Amino acid sequence: MIEHFEFTFLSSSSSHTIKLGKLLGAQLSAGCVIGLVGELGAGKTCFIKGLAEGLNNTPESEVTSPTFTILQEYPGPVPLYHFDAYRLSGSQDLEAIGFEDYVGADGVAVIEWADRIQDALPREALLITIEAVSENERRFTCRAQGTNHCDMLASFRAALAAAGKKS
Ligand SMILES: Nc1ncnc2c1ncn2[C@@H]1O[C@H](COP(=O)(O)OP(=O)(O)OP(=O)(O)O)[C@@H](O)[C@H]1O
Ligand SMILES: [Mg+2]
Repeated sequence: MIEHFEFTFLSSSSSHTIKLGKLLGAQLSAGCVIGLVGELGAGKTCFIKGLAEGLNNTPESEVTSPTFTILQEYPGPVPLYHFDAYRLSGSQDLEAIGFEDYVGADGVAVIEWADRIQDALPREALLITIEAVSENERRFTCRAQGTNHCDMLASFRAALAAAGKKS
């Protein structure tokens, strides 16, 4: 059983990032936890637009940074819980919104600025770091911990390879 799995890929535009997010979204199942790390404007929300579409057909336009609400829910057969930890002073602020009830539960949880609440994340999760390489290019580094998240990340890599062959 694989307990740790890691790989890197590049995106060349925001629409490419949405497509990549969609491919990952299609591999997700209830209980998945995804932490996104990256500077302002790295592309975290952009990636989640694709993720939400791939997971449960949420229209792109409904996905925005939930900066002032902290949590946005996109309902579907598997709901997506979208958190933004940017304005939190630390993981203690999460208790007020019942963070633990959403994570690893009936839906997928995705957290922007996951590095700000690292101690509240479960050990088994997928962490994705996004770095700007140039104005329109982004490097995504994915690290999965735990069997389920490793399997999911391996399926995503296979889907990326298949999509690459088609284009
Ligand atoms: N390859 C790319 N992938 C994603 N976004 C890109 C890319 N190239 C350029 N961009 C631009 O970068 C910006 C990314 O914005 P986005 O809101 O997704 O960032 P964010 O990481 O969520 O920032 P914040 O921390 O402010 O919430 C958008 O303006 C988008 O058009
Ligand atoms: Mg954002």
